[in-house]
Amino acid sequence: MIDIPTRWQDLTLAQLEDDPYPTLETMRREDPVCWVPALEMFFVTRWDDVATIEADPGLFTAATEPSFLARTLGVNMLTVDPPELDHLRSMMLPAFKSAGRSGPFVRDELVPMADTLLDQVEVTMAADGAQGFDVISQYAQLLSAGALATVLGLDEHGFDQMWSWCVGLVTDLANFENDPELAAVGDKAKAELGLALADVIERATDRDGGTAIDTFIANGATPEEIVNNVRLMISGGINEPCEAIGLVTWVLLTQPDLAERIAAEPDKMNRLIEEVLRVHSPVGTITRQATSDTELAGVAIPKGALVSGILRSINRDETHWTNPTEIDLDRRQGAHAAFALGAHRCLGEWMGRQTVKQGVLRLFDRFPDLGLDPDHTVLNQGFEFRGPPELWVTI
Ligand code: HEM
Repeated sequence: MIDIPTRWQDLTLAQLEDDPYPTLETMRREDPVCWVPALEMFFVTRWDDVATIEADPGLFTAATEPSFLARTLGVNMLTVDPPELDHLRSMMLPAFKSAGRSGPFVRDELVPMADTLLDQVEVTMAADGAQGFDVISQYAQLLSAGALATVLGLDEHGFDQMWSWCVGLVTDLANFENDPELAAVGDKAKAELGLALADVIERATDRDGGTAIDTFIANGATPEEIVNNVRLMISGGINEPCEAIGLVTWVLLTQPDLAERIAAEPDKMNRLIEEVLRVHSPVGTITRQATSDTELAGVAIPKGALVSGILRSINRDETHWTNPTEIDLDRRQGAHAAFALGAHRCLGEWMGRQTVKQGVLRLFDRFPDLGLDPDHTVLNQGFEFRGPPELWVTI
Protein backbone atom coordinates (compact mmCIF):
# COMPACT_ATOMS: atom_id res chain seq x y z
CA MET A 1 0.00 0.00 0.00
CA ILE A 2 1.48 3.35 -1.06
CA ASP A 3 0.80 6.19 1.40
CA ILE A 4 0.68 9.45 -0.56
CA PRO A 5 -1.04 12.64 0.60
CA THR A 6 -4.07 13.29 -1.59
CA ARG A 7 -7.26 15.32 -1.68
CA TRP A 8 -9.03 12.30 -3.25
CA GLN A 9 -9.05 10.22 -0.06
CA ASP A 10 -12.84 9.84 -0.10
CA LEU A 11 -13.36 9.34 -3.83
CA THR A 12 -14.97 5.96 -4.52
CA LEU A 13 -15.15 3.75 -7.60
CA ALA A 14 -18.96 3.93 -7.35
CA GLN A 15 -18.81 7.73 -7.71
CA LEU A 16 -16.61 7.41 -10.79
CA GLU A 17 -18.88 4.77 -12.30
CA ASP A 18 -21.92 6.94 -11.72
CA ASP A 19 -20.54 10.14 -13.27
CA PRO A 20 -16.76 10.56 -13.61
CA TYR A 21 -16.82 13.79 -15.59
CA PRO A 22 -17.08 16.50 -12.87
CA THR A 23 -14.27 14.81 -10.90
CA LEU A 24 -12.09 14.45 -13.99
CA GLU A 25 -12.65 18.10 -14.92
CA THR A 26 -11.51 19.21 -11.46
CA MET A 27 -8.49 16.92 -11.65
CA ARG A 28 -7.50 18.29 -15.07
CA ARG A 29 -7.74 21.85 -13.82
CA GLU A 30 -6.29 21.55 -10.31
CA ASP A 31 -4.58 18.20 -9.77
CA PRO A 32 -3.73 16.63 -13.14
CA VAL A 33 -1.49 13.87 -11.77
CA CYS A 34 -2.93 12.66 -8.47
CA TRP A 35 -3.08 9.64 -6.19
CA VAL A 36 -6.49 7.93 -5.91
CA PRO A 37 -6.46 5.59 -2.88
CA ALA A 38 -9.70 3.76 -3.81
CA LEU A 39 -7.99 2.37 -6.92
CA GLU A 40 -4.40 2.54 -5.60
CA MET A 41 -3.29 4.33 -8.74
CA PHE A 42 -2.09 7.70 -9.93
CA PHE A 43 -4.69 9.26 -12.22
CA VAL A 44 -3.22 11.15 -15.17
CA THR A 45 -5.92 13.33 -16.69
CA ARG A 46 -4.27 15.71 -19.20
CA TRP A 47 -3.58 14.87 -22.86
CA ASP A 48 0.14 15.76 -22.88
CA ASP A 49 0.92 13.71 -19.77
CA VAL A 50 -0.89 10.60 -21.07
CA ALA A 51 0.95 11.05 -24.39
CA THR A 52 4.22 11.07 -22.40
CA ILE A 53 3.27 7.77 -20.73
CA GLU A 54 2.26 6.20 -24.04
CA ALA A 55 5.54 7.26 -25.69
CA ASP A 56 7.76 5.58 -23.10
CA PRO A 57 6.88 1.91 -22.47
CA GLY A 58 10.34 1.43 -20.93
CA LEU A 59 9.43 3.80 -18.08
CA PHE A 60 5.68 3.09 -18.01
CA THR A 61 5.36 -0.63 -18.63
CA ALA A 62 2.20 -2.53 -19.59
CA ALA A 63 3.65 -5.58 -17.80
CA THR A 64 2.16 -4.45 -14.49
CA GLU A 65 2.41 -6.35 -11.21
CA PRO A 66 -0.24 -7.14 -10.11
CA SER A 67 -2.10 -7.28 -13.43
CA PHE A 68 -5.88 -7.57 -13.69
CA LEU A 69 -5.43 -8.41 -17.35
CA ALA A 70 -2.88 -11.20 -16.87
CA ARG A 71 -4.82 -12.63 -13.94
CA THR A 72 -8.09 -12.71 -15.87
CA LEU A 73 -6.91 -13.51 -19.38
CA GLY A 74 -3.39 -14.96 -19.08
CA VAL A 75 -0.31 -13.14 -20.38
CA ASN A 76 -1.36 -11.37 -23.60
CA MET A 77 -0.26 -8.52 -25.86
CA LEU A 78 -1.67 -5.91 -23.49
CA THR A 79 0.49 -7.25 -20.64
CA VAL A 80 3.84 -7.08 -22.46
CA ASP A 81 6.02 -4.33 -23.97
CA PRO A 82 7.99 -4.15 -27.23
CA PRO A 83 9.65 -6.26 -28.64
CA GLU A 84 7.38 -9.13 -27.39
CA LEU A 85 4.39 -6.91 -28.15
CA ASP A 86 5.51 -6.29 -31.73
CA HIS A 87 5.91 -10.02 -32.29
CA LEU A 88 2.34 -10.76 -31.12
CA ARG A 89 0.83 -7.85 -33.02
CA SER A 90 2.61 -8.80 -36.24
CA MET A 91 0.95 -12.25 -36.07
CA MET A 92 -2.51 -10.99 -35.15
CA LEU A 93 -3.08 -7.51 -36.58
CA PRO A 94 -3.30 -8.57 -40.29
CA ALA A 95 -6.58 -10.45 -39.69
CA PHE A 96 -8.22 -7.24 -38.44
CA LYS A 97 -7.19 -5.06 -41.37
CA SER A 98 -9.27 -4.74 -44.52
CA ALA A 99 -6.81 -7.03 -46.36
CA GLY A 100 -7.36 -9.81 -43.77
CA ARG A 101 -10.43 -11.81 -42.72
CA SER A 102 -12.19 -8.64 -41.52
CA GLY A 103 -12.27 -7.16 -45.06
CA PRO A 104 -14.53 -9.78 -46.70
CA PHE A 105 -16.57 -9.98 -43.50
CA VAL A 106 -17.29 -6.25 -43.56
CA ARG A 107 -17.90 -6.23 -47.33
CA ASP A 108 -20.13 -9.30 -47.61
CA GLU A 109 -21.44 -10.44 -44.22
CA LEU A 110 -21.79 -7.53 -41.80
CA VAL A 111 -24.84 -5.88 -43.37
CA PRO A 112 -26.75 -9.18 -43.84
CA MET A 113 -25.89 -10.06 -40.21
CA ALA A 114 -27.32 -6.74 -38.99
CA ASP A 115 -30.43 -7.20 -41.16
CA THR A 116 -31.00 -10.74 -39.86
CA LEU A 117 -30.78 -9.51 -36.26
CA LEU A 118 -33.24 -6.71 -37.04
CA ASP A 119 -35.59 -9.31 -38.60
CA GLN A 120 -35.44 -11.15 -35.27
CA VAL A 121 -36.20 -7.92 -33.41
CA GLU A 122 -39.31 -7.47 -35.56
CA VAL A 123 -40.40 -11.07 -34.97
CA THR A 124 -39.97 -10.66 -31.19
CA MET A 125 -41.88 -7.37 -31.16
CA ALA A 126 -44.71 -8.92 -33.19
CA ALA A 127 -44.89 -11.92 -30.85
CA ASP A 128 -44.97 -9.66 -27.78
CA GLY A 129 -47.30 -7.10 -29.36
CA ALA A 130 -44.58 -4.53 -28.57
CA GLN A 131 -43.98 -1.22 -30.32
CA GLY A 132 -40.36 -0.97 -29.24
CA PHE A 133 -37.27 -2.82 -28.04
CA ASP A 134 -33.94 -2.54 -26.23
CA VAL A 135 -31.27 -1.68 -28.81
CA ILE A 136 -28.48 -2.98 -26.56
CA SER A 137 -29.63 -6.47 -25.53
CA GLN A 138 -31.70 -7.25 -28.62
CA TYR A 139 -29.35 -5.91 -31.29
CA ALA A 140 -26.00 -4.23 -30.51
CA GLN A 141 -24.67 -6.97 -28.20
CA LEU A 142 -25.48 -9.69 -30.70
CA LEU A 143 -24.12 -7.79 -33.70
CA SER A 144 -20.83 -7.01 -31.94
CA ALA A 145 -20.50 -10.57 -30.64
CA GLY A 146 -21.49 -12.05 -34.00
CA ALA A 147 -19.00 -9.89 -35.91
CA LEU A 148 -16.02 -10.93 -33.79
CA ALA A 149 -17.17 -14.54 -33.52
CA THR A 150 -17.40 -14.78 -37.32
CA VAL A 151 -14.03 -13.15 -38.00
CA LEU A 152 -12.32 -15.36 -35.42
CA GLY A 153 -14.15 -18.51 -36.56
CA LEU A 154 -15.98 -19.09 -33.27
CA ASP A 155 -19.49 -18.46 -34.61
CA GLU A 156 -20.58 -22.10 -34.22
CA HIS A 157 -20.97 -21.42 -30.48
CA GLY A 158 -23.63 -18.82 -31.16
CA PHE A 159 -23.65 -15.07 -30.67
CA ASP A 160 -25.30 -15.34 -27.21
CA GLN A 161 -22.47 -17.55 -25.93
CA MET A 162 -19.82 -15.12 -27.25
CA TRP A 163 -21.62 -12.28 -25.49
CA SER A 164 -21.79 -14.14 -22.19
CA TRP A 165 -18.04 -14.96 -22.32
CA CYS A 166 -17.41 -11.29 -22.94
CA VAL A 167 -19.54 -10.29 -19.94
CA GLY A 168 -17.73 -12.78 -17.69
CA LEU A 169 -14.28 -11.53 -18.67
CA VAL A 170 -15.21 -7.85 -18.49
CA THR A 171 -16.83 -8.27 -15.06
CA ASP A 172 -13.53 -9.47 -13.67
CA LEU A 173 -11.43 -6.93 -15.59
CA ALA A 174 -13.41 -4.07 -14.06
CA ASN A 175 -13.13 -5.62 -10.60
CA PHE A 176 -10.70 -3.01 -9.27
CA GLU A 177 -11.75 -3.65 -5.66
CA ASN A 178 -11.00 -7.40 -5.86
CA ASP A 179 -14.50 -8.67 -5.05
CA PRO A 180 -14.14 -12.51 -4.96
CA GLU A 181 -17.62 -13.10 -6.39
CA LEU A 182 -16.83 -11.01 -9.46
CA ALA A 183 -13.45 -12.76 -9.83
CA ALA A 184 -15.25 -16.12 -9.88
CA VAL A 185 -17.48 -14.95 -12.76
CA GLY A 186 -14.34 -14.13 -14.76
CA ASP A 187 -12.68 -17.45 -13.94
CA LYS A 188 -15.71 -19.37 -15.20
CA ALA A 189 -15.77 -17.54 -18.55
CA LYS A 190 -12.02 -17.96 -18.92
CA ALA A 191 -12.17 -21.72 -18.33
CA GLU A 192 -15.13 -22.29 -20.68
CA LEU A 193 -13.64 -20.23 -23.45
CA GLY A 194 -10.28 -21.98 -23.04
CA LEU A 195 -11.94 -25.34 -23.76
CA ALA A 196 -13.80 -24.00 -26.79
CA LEU A 197 -10.61 -22.47 -28.20
CA ALA A 198 -8.55 -25.61 -27.66
CA ASP A 199 -11.08 -27.43 -29.81
CA VAL A 200 -11.05 -24.79 -32.58
CA ILE A 201 -7.25 -24.63 -32.61
CA GLU A 202 -6.92 -28.40 -32.86
CA ARG A 203 -9.27 -28.51 -35.82
CA ALA A 204 -7.79 -25.39 -37.43
CA THR A 205 -4.33 -26.96 -37.72
CA ASP A 206 -5.80 -29.47 -40.22
CA ARG A 207 -7.10 -26.84 -42.64
CA ASP A 208 -6.94 -23.21 -43.60
CA GLY A 209 -10.49 -21.98 -43.30
CA GLY A 210 -9.48 -18.36 -43.73
CA THR A 211 -10.52 -17.28 -40.24
CA ALA A 212 -8.52 -14.93 -38.02
CA ILE A 213 -7.46 -17.89 -35.86
CA ASP A 214 -6.23 -19.69 -39.00
CA THR A 215 -4.18 -16.58 -39.80
CA PHE A 216 -2.69 -16.52 -36.29
CA ILE A 217 -1.64 -20.17 -36.70
CA ALA A 218 -0.23 -19.57 -40.19
CA ASN A 219 1.77 -16.64 -38.78
CA GLY A 220 3.35 -18.88 -36.14
CA ALA A 221 1.28 -18.15 -33.00
CA THR A 222 1.37 -20.87 -30.32
CA PRO A 223 -1.86 -22.28 -28.82
CA GLU A 224 -1.22 -20.40 -25.56
CA GLU A 225 -0.64 -17.12 -27.43
CA ILE A 226 -3.87 -17.67 -29.34
CA VAL A 227 -5.97 -18.58 -26.28
CA ASN A 228 -4.79 -15.65 -24.16
CA ASN A 229 -5.01 -13.07 -26.92
CA VAL A 230 -8.41 -14.23 -28.15
CA ARG A 231 -9.61 -13.83 -24.55
CA LEU A 232 -8.31 -10.27 -24.76
CA MET A 233 -10.07 -9.70 -28.10
CA ILE A 234 -13.36 -11.01 -26.70
CA SER A 235 -13.12 -8.86 -23.58
CA GLY A 236 -12.38 -5.69 -25.58
CA GLY A 237 -13.69 -6.34 -29.05
CA ILE A 238 -17.38 -6.98 -28.30
CA ASN A 239 -18.38 -4.75 -25.44
CA GLU A 240 -16.83 -1.68 -27.02
CA PRO A 241 -18.49 -1.70 -30.45
CA CYS A 242 -21.73 -2.55 -28.63
CA GLU A 243 -21.41 0.44 -26.33
CA ALA A 244 -20.43 2.63 -29.26
CA ILE A 245 -23.52 1.57 -31.26
CA GLY A 246 -25.60 2.44 -28.20
CA LEU A 247 -23.87 5.79 -27.73
CA VAL A 248 -24.11 6.88 -31.39
CA THR A 249 -27.80 5.85 -31.50
CA TRP A 250 -28.50 7.69 -28.23
CA VAL A 251 -26.75 10.84 -29.51
CA LEU A 252 -28.76 10.79 -32.76
CA LEU A 253 -32.01 10.35 -30.81
CA THR A 254 -31.27 13.11 -28.30
CA GLN A 255 -29.59 15.70 -30.54
CA PRO A 256 -31.98 16.36 -33.44
CA ASP A 257 -29.63 18.97 -34.93
CA LEU A 258 -27.02 16.24 -35.46
CA ALA A 259 -29.61 13.80 -36.84
CA GLU A 260 -30.78 16.45 -39.34
CA ARG A 261 -27.21 17.19 -40.42
CA ILE A 262 -26.49 13.48 -40.97
CA ALA A 263 -29.71 13.09 -42.97
CA ALA A 264 -28.65 16.00 -45.20
CA GLU A 265 -24.97 14.96 -45.40
CA PRO A 266 -24.68 11.17 -44.93
CA ASP A 267 -20.91 11.41 -45.49
CA LYS A 268 -20.67 13.05 -42.06
CA MET A 269 -21.54 9.73 -40.38
CA ASN A 270 -17.86 8.85 -40.02
CA ARG A 271 -17.19 12.19 -38.31
CA LEU A 272 -20.15 11.65 -36.00
CA ILE A 273 -18.79 8.27 -34.92
CA GLU A 274 -15.33 9.75 -34.23
CA GLU A 275 -16.81 12.59 -32.20
CA VAL A 276 -19.04 10.27 -30.16
CA LEU A 277 -16.03 8.04 -29.48
CA ARG A 278 -14.10 11.10 -28.34
CA VAL A 279 -16.74 12.70 -26.12
CA HIS A 280 -18.06 9.45 -24.63
CA SER A 281 -14.94 7.20 -24.78
CA PRO A 282 -16.26 3.63 -24.26
CA VAL A 283 -12.84 2.57 -22.86
CA GLY A 284 -11.92 4.77 -19.91
CA THR A 285 -8.30 4.12 -19.07
CA ILE A 286 -4.93 2.57 -19.85
CA THR A 287 -3.01 1.06 -16.92
CA ARG A 288 0.77 1.15 -16.76
CA GLN A 289 3.42 0.86 -14.01
CA ALA A 290 6.47 3.03 -13.31
CA THR A 291 9.66 0.98 -13.73
CA SER A 292 11.75 3.52 -11.77
CA ASP A 293 11.23 6.63 -9.63
CA THR A 294 10.12 9.38 -11.95
CA GLU A 295 8.19 12.64 -12.19
CA LEU A 296 5.15 13.58 -14.26
CA ALA A 297 3.82 17.16 -14.38
CA GLY A 298 5.95 17.92 -11.31
CA VAL A 299 4.49 15.04 -9.27
CA ALA A 300 6.87 12.38 -7.92
CA ILE A 301 5.86 8.87 -8.97
CA PRO A 302 7.67 6.10 -7.09
CA LYS A 303 8.99 2.99 -8.80
CA GLY A 304 6.28 0.32 -8.83
CA ALA A 305 3.32 2.72 -8.67
CA LEU A 306 0.40 1.98 -10.97
CA VAL A 307 -0.47 4.84 -13.29
CA SER A 308 -3.83 5.21 -14.98
CA GLY A 309 -3.92 7.29 -18.16
CA ILE A 310 -7.52 8.45 -18.28
CA LEU A 311 -8.57 8.38 -21.94
CA ARG A 312 -12.08 9.60 -21.11
CA SER A 313 -10.48 12.66 -19.52
CA ILE A 314 -7.90 13.51 -22.18
CA ASN A 315 -10.57 13.24 -24.88
CA ARG A 316 -12.20 16.24 -23.14
CA ASP A 317 -9.00 18.08 -22.17
CA GLU A 318 -9.72 21.82 -22.52
CA THR A 319 -6.05 22.47 -23.31
CA HIS A 320 -6.23 20.13 -26.30
CA TRP A 321 -9.78 20.53 -27.67
CA THR A 322 -11.94 23.57 -28.37
CA ASN A 323 -15.41 23.19 -26.78
CA PRO A 324 -14.44 19.64 -25.77
CA THR A 325 -17.89 18.36 -24.78
CA GLU A 326 -19.51 19.50 -28.03
CA ILE A 327 -19.97 16.96 -30.83
CA ASP A 328 -18.68 19.01 -33.74
CA LEU A 329 -18.94 17.36 -37.16
CA ASP A 330 -16.54 19.94 -38.64
CA ARG A 331 -13.85 19.57 -35.99
CA ARG A 332 -10.30 19.52 -37.39
CA GLN A 333 -8.14 18.95 -34.34
CA GLY A 334 -6.54 15.61 -35.10
CA ALA A 335 -7.24 12.12 -33.85
CA HIS A 336 -8.87 11.38 -30.50
CA ALA A 337 -7.61 8.86 -27.93
CA ALA A 338 -10.60 6.49 -27.71
CA PHE A 339 -8.44 3.75 -29.30
CA ALA A 340 -5.39 4.90 -27.21
CA LEU A 341 -2.24 6.60 -28.49
CA GLY A 342 0.78 4.34 -28.19
CA ALA A 343 2.22 0.89 -28.80
CA HIS A 344 -1.00 -0.80 -27.61
CA ARG A 345 -3.31 1.18 -29.86
CA CYS A 346 -6.46 -0.86 -30.49
CA LEU A 347 -5.92 -3.93 -32.67
CA GLY A 348 -9.55 -4.02 -33.84
CA GLU A 349 -9.90 -0.32 -34.61
CA TRP A 350 -10.76 -0.75 -38.32
CA MET A 351 -13.21 -3.56 -37.76
CA GLY A 352 -14.76 -1.87 -34.71
CA ARG A 353 -15.45 1.32 -36.65
CA GLN A 354 -17.15 -0.64 -39.47
CA THR A 355 -19.33 -2.58 -37.01
CA VAL A 356 -20.47 0.61 -35.32
CA LYS A 357 -21.15 2.37 -38.62
CA GLN A 358 -23.13 -0.41 -40.27
CA GLY A 359 -24.85 -1.27 -37.00
CA VAL A 360 -26.23 2.26 -36.68
CA LEU A 361 -26.98 2.73 -40.40
CA ARG A 362 -28.96 -0.53 -40.66
CA LEU A 363 -30.90 0.28 -37.48
CA PHE A 364 -32.10 3.67 -38.74
CA ASP A 365 -32.68 2.30 -42.22
CA ARG A 366 -35.03 -0.36 -40.81
CA PHE A 367 -36.78 1.95 -38.35
CA PRO A 368 -36.73 5.50 -39.80
CA ASP A 369 -39.10 6.76 -37.10
CA LEU A 370 -36.98 5.45 -34.23
CA GLY A 371 -37.41 7.42 -31.00
CA LEU A 372 -36.43 7.08 -27.34
CA ASP A 373 -39.04 5.22 -25.28
CA PRO A 374 -40.29 7.82 -22.77
CA ASP A 375 -41.02 5.07 -20.22
CA HIS A 376 -37.31 4.26 -19.83
CA THR A 377 -34.51 6.54 -18.70
CA VAL A 378 -31.16 6.21 -20.47
CA LEU A 379 -28.32 6.04 -17.97
CA ASN A 380 -24.73 5.84 -19.18
CA GLN A 381 -22.80 3.90 -16.57
CA GLY A 382 -19.29 2.70 -15.82
CA PHE A 383 -15.77 4.06 -15.45
CA GLU A 384 -13.44 1.54 -17.09
CA PHE A 385 -16.11 0.68 -19.65
CA ARG A 386 -18.96 3.16 -20.09
CA GLY A 387 -22.11 3.17 -22.18
CA PRO A 388 -25.86 2.74 -21.83
CA PRO A 389 -26.65 -0.72 -20.31
CA GLU A 390 -30.13 -0.41 -21.89
CA LEU A 391 -31.47 1.76 -24.70
CA TRP A 392 -35.22 1.34 -25.10
CA VAL A 393 -36.65 2.75 -28.32
CA THR A 394 -40.01 2.96 -30.01
CA ILE A 395 -40.45 2.35 -33.71
C1 HEM B 1 -15.36 1.00 -30.70
C2 HEM B 1 -14.67 -0.08 -30.51
C3 HEM B 1 -13.37 -0.18 -29.72
C4 HEM B 1 -12.78 0.68 -28.83
C5 HEM B 1 -13.28 2.04 -28.37
C6 HEM B 1 -11.52 0.09 -28.41
C7 HEM B 1 -10.61 0.68 -27.56
C8 HEM B 1 -9.35 0.18 -27.26
C9 HEM B 1 -8.35 0.84 -26.43
C10 HEM B 1 -8.52 2.18 -25.77
C11 HEM B 1 -7.26 0.05 -26.38
C12 HEM B 1 -5.94 0.32 -25.64
C13 HEM B 1 -5.92 -0.32 -24.29
C14 HEM B 1 -4.64 -0.06 -23.51
O1 HEM B 1 -3.64 0.44 -24.05
O2 HEM B 1 -4.62 -0.34 -22.30
C15 HEM B 1 -7.57 -1.13 -27.16
C16 HEM B 1 -6.71 -2.20 -27.33
C17 HEM B 1 -7.07 -3.38 -27.93
N1 HEM B 1 -8.24 -3.63 -28.62
FE1 HEM B 1 -9.78 -2.36 -28.91
N2 HEM B 1 -11.41 -1.13 -29.01
C18 HEM B 1 -12.50 -1.34 -29.83
C19 HEM B 1 -12.75 -2.42 -30.65
C20 HEM B 1 -11.96 -3.56 -30.70
C21 HEM B 1 -12.25 -4.72 -31.52
C22 HEM B 1 -13.42 -4.89 -32.48
C23 HEM B 1 -11.26 -5.61 -31.27
C24 HEM B 1 -11.18 -6.97 -31.91
C25 HEM B 1 -10.13 -7.65 -32.07
C26 HEM B 1 -10.34 -5.02 -30.30
C27 HEM B 1 -9.20 -5.60 -29.79
C28 HEM B 1 -8.21 -4.93 -29.04
C29 HEM B 1 -6.96 -5.54 -28.63
C30 HEM B 1 -6.52 -6.98 -28.89
C31 HEM B 1 -6.25 -4.56 -27.94
C32 HEM B 1 -4.86 -4.69 -27.30
C33 HEM B 1 -3.80 -4.18 -28.27
C34 HEM B 1 -2.40 -4.24 -27.69
O3 HEM B 1 -2.22 -4.52 -26.51
O4 HEM B 1 -1.45 -4.01 -28.46
N3 HEM B 1 -10.81 -3.77 -29.99
N4 HEM B 1 -8.83 -1.02 -27.69
